[in-house]
Amino acid sequence: MKIDLLKKIPQHMDTIILLLEEDYHLDSIEFLPPYVKELAEAWIGDSSFKAEFAALQSTSGVHKGQKYNLIICGAGEVKALTADKMRRLFASVVRAAIKLKAKTLYLYQSFPLTIGDVAYGHVLAEAALLTEYKFSKYFSNDDKHEIDALHLVKNIKSTRYFNCGVLEGRIFAESTNFARDLVNEPANVIFPESLAEITKKAALKYGFDIEIFNADKLRRIKMDAFLAVGKGSKSEPRLIIMRYQGNPDAKNKTIGLIGKGVTYDSGGYCIKSPQGMVTMNCDMAGAAAVIGTMIAASSLKLKVNIVGIVAACENMISGEAYHPGDLIRSMNGKTIEVVNTDAEGRLTLIDAIHYAISREKVNKVLDIATLTGAAVGALGNKISAVVTNDNAWLEKLKSASEFTGEKIWQLPAHEEYKELIKSQVADYKNVGGPMAGTITAALFIQEFVEQKPWIHIDIAGTARRDSEAGMYSVGATGVGVRLITQLLREME
Ligand code: BES
Ligand code: ZN
Ligand code: ZN
Repeated sequence: MKIDLLKKIPQHMDTIILLLEEDYHLDSIEFLPPYVKELAEAWIGDSSFKAEFAALQSTSGVHKGQKYNLIICGAGEVKALTADKMRRLFASVVRAAIKLKAKTLYLYQSFPLTIGDVAYGHVLAEAALLTEYKFSKYFSNDDKHEIDALHLVKNIKSTRYFNCGVLEGRIFAESTNFARDLVNEPANVIFPESLAEITKKAALKYGFDIEIFNADKLRRIKMDAFLAVGKGSKSEPRLIIMRYQGNPDAKNKTIGLIGKGVTYDSGGYCIKSPQGMVTMNCDMAGAAAVIGTMIAASSLKLKVNIVGIVAACENMISGEAYHPGDLIRSMNGKTIEVVNTDAEGRLTLIDAIHYAISREKVNKVLDIATLTGAAVGALGNKISAVVTNDNAWLEKLKSASEFTGEKIWQLPAHEEYKELIKSQVADYKNVGGPMAGTITAALFIQEFVEQKPWIHIDIAGTARRDSEAGMYSVGATGVGVRLITQLLREME
């Protein structure tokens, strides 16, 4: 989709979008051709349209023998319009345009901008490209609708800044859509080896380094907690290591991004219900978020050093699979009693984190994982749970979240619950019992971060949606890519 500032008003406009504030006057809209104003007035006059935030109406008609669509969308109170609210408005008008099968959009706005030109371009491009996304390649008749162009009709202060923002927003959205594709692909397509190969291609294309360890290598470096989870699968595990050095002068400042990469989670011998299993191809959404972030960071040439780690494996059942009751030794030497084979994510993450700290020398750790059903129970599918040992760093994530609109909520990492993950036969057990599941999972991981500043994001609820709304389609949301990329920008 082409996204630009319109230079000349054409004779005919395919689809006209009017964004209107609470007390709008159509006269205040610059460059609005009189015939469009008349059409809009006649139509709005007939309906009881109130320009409340995100109130939307659309109609189609014929003018001088040519078909047109008209979409009007309320923006509510102008003062309250943040970047995220603008993004949501743009997403709803683009969603309406897709429903009308519109090809060329002309976007008018009746009120002055409340955000800078860069941010405006950014959220416009992001909303348009995220909303257009649909995972439809497996339909015999792919009905995915593509919009050709979105022209903004507005006297933006700086075209250059607006275009910069569009470029940025494009990178944010395309990296997110890359992650969405990875998550939406089923487990017969995405398994550890194929995930590693796809990531390798992305590394070459976008310019970050990559190294891939096979099972032999993993055994040599004793990543036995990670290996235990993958043992039941015919697909061998892979450790995917991605490196991007945007600030070579500060080699000792490197952020480790660790993404849960369980390409399928059957639960193992603590098997899931059939219903709980259908969407478990999404159990590598954390990995996809990290890979998407590597793509975004290298495309934006961010001045930060990042090591992304994905411990990719499949949690399956076979004669080789790990058993409930197994005692395993993780890479850092601590032992774990496996009381539940379905609490596998944390076992893969702790070895990946230990590897990142001990071998890659990262000095900050952020992990992102579809880790606990308890996070879904606590916060639903629109808010990710976060746990940290560094509130100052979390403030930066909160500010990133405000910009990207990907909501987060902090859960406490109180020491009191640590006793829940103590085992009678090993250093830890991998489940803390029925209470506070998201917190005990995080506390388990915290035991392996060696006092480094650490943020944990549980995206079990937010990684996918069951229905289409705004910029989300059915399936993967790509959550985390924009959030972490923006966090990195705030850390530059
Ligand atoms: N992958 C699941 C968590 C999950 C649940 C992700 C729902 C997305 C949607 C994870 O590996 C898991 O099974 N966790 C268990 C842990 C329990 C056994 C302590 C859970 O939350 O039920
Ligand atoms: Zn599980
Ligand atoms: Zn899992």
